[in-house]
Amino acid sequence: MASVKMRLVYISLVILGALCLYFSMNNLSFFQKETFAFKKEDGKFLQLPDIDCTQNPPFLVLLVTSSHRQVFARLVIRNTWGRETVVMGKRVKTFFLLGSSPSTNVSRAVAQEARRYRDIIQKDFVDVYFNLTLKTMMGIEWIHHFCPQAAFVMKTDSDMFVNIRYLTELLLKKNRTTRFVTGFLKMNDFPIRNKQNKWFVSKYEYPWDRYPPFCSGTGYVFSGDVASRVYDVAGSIPFLKLEDVFVGLCLAKLKIGLEELHSRQTFFPQGLDFSTCRFKRIVACHFIQPQKMLTYWQALENSVGEECPAE
Ligand SMILES: *[C@@H]1O[C@H](CO)[C@@H](O)[C@H](O)[C@H]1NC(C)=O
Ligand SMILES: *[C@@H]1O[C@H](CO)[C@@H](O)[C@H](O)[C@H]1NC(C)=O
Ligand SMILES: *[C@@H]1O[C@H](CO)[C@@H](O)[C@H](O)[C@H]1NC(C)=O
Repeated sequence: MASVKMRLVYISLVILGALCLYFSMNNLSFFQKETFAFKKEDGKFLQLPDIDCTQNPPFLVLLVTSSHRQVFARLVIRNTWGRETVVMGKRVKTFFLLGSSPSTNVSRAVAQEARRYRDIIQKDFVDVYFNLTLKTMMGIEWIHHFCPQAAFVMKTDSDMFVNIRYLTELLLKKNRTTRFVTGFLKMNDFPIRNKQNKWFVSKYEYPWDRYPPFCSGTGYVFSGDVASRVYDVAGSIPFLKLEDVFVGLCLAKLKIGLEELHSRQTFFPQGLDFSTCRFKRIVACHFIQPQKMLTYWQALENSVGEECPAE
């Protein structure tokens, strides 16, 4: 009697085990079918900026994600922090990243703007918010192909204020040349599973409960070599619409850690109230409208050489 019971228990356990195995494998293959790896060579460049990085390579290249409508924001950035400049003997260049538009009017206007300013990098993908990963990877591809000589690269957005002078100063002080990534560090973030949220990510898009360490997409900086390294591994990383997390996944695969640029906070993805002395000691600040950008930049330019109270 006892041995029959034992046999039943044994058989049930085997069946249970087989079921578990079946479901786990099924789930896995389902996940693999649903997600797709990022395609490296997708689309062709429609616009390329006018720069020869082999001659007098820039110290810092800023890649600014932008959309077609933001003509005024681009104009203001070109006339403020994005102006081609030399800081402490180091050359800084700013370029804008754009996708394509179905409207011929808009496309024509962008082509005109690109011819006029020679600072637009554009590829043939639909320019929508959730193609930000494609936009960012286009910038990284451009560095890899056309400007690997840049010592540092910053990826940022067109509603950001960037203090080029302070950033250059801190990068020189840090004295790092390779495998360096910095910004507003997010070391312990997790996917938002609430469907109502703008940043909702389903379990099919990202099955794990934690994100790898990544830098807020509002502004992060890396040594030039990181562009080619990320570009090389990107093809083997499952595509994710959140560009900063996607880059974080690439960095995790490359075993490149994130580092603080300064012991004080210098990147402000949540925004920050302006004061000249405060903005002299920050690198990047979010939520800055073009009109404010002009005012803040002018105030900072006018205060060059003025002392601020020590903190
Ligand atoms: C395109 O531009 C032309 C002339 O500037 C204008 O008449 C037309 O309405 C525009 N079309 C769209 C879809 O905006
Ligand atoms: C992103 O661009 C690709 C290529 O143009 C397009 O097929 C895709 O639908 C776009 N993604 C979104 C979310 O619109
Ligand atoms: C920068 O680092 C290099 C070694 O990596 C060292 O030789 C050099 O002296 C450093 N420069 C400064 C200014 O700290």
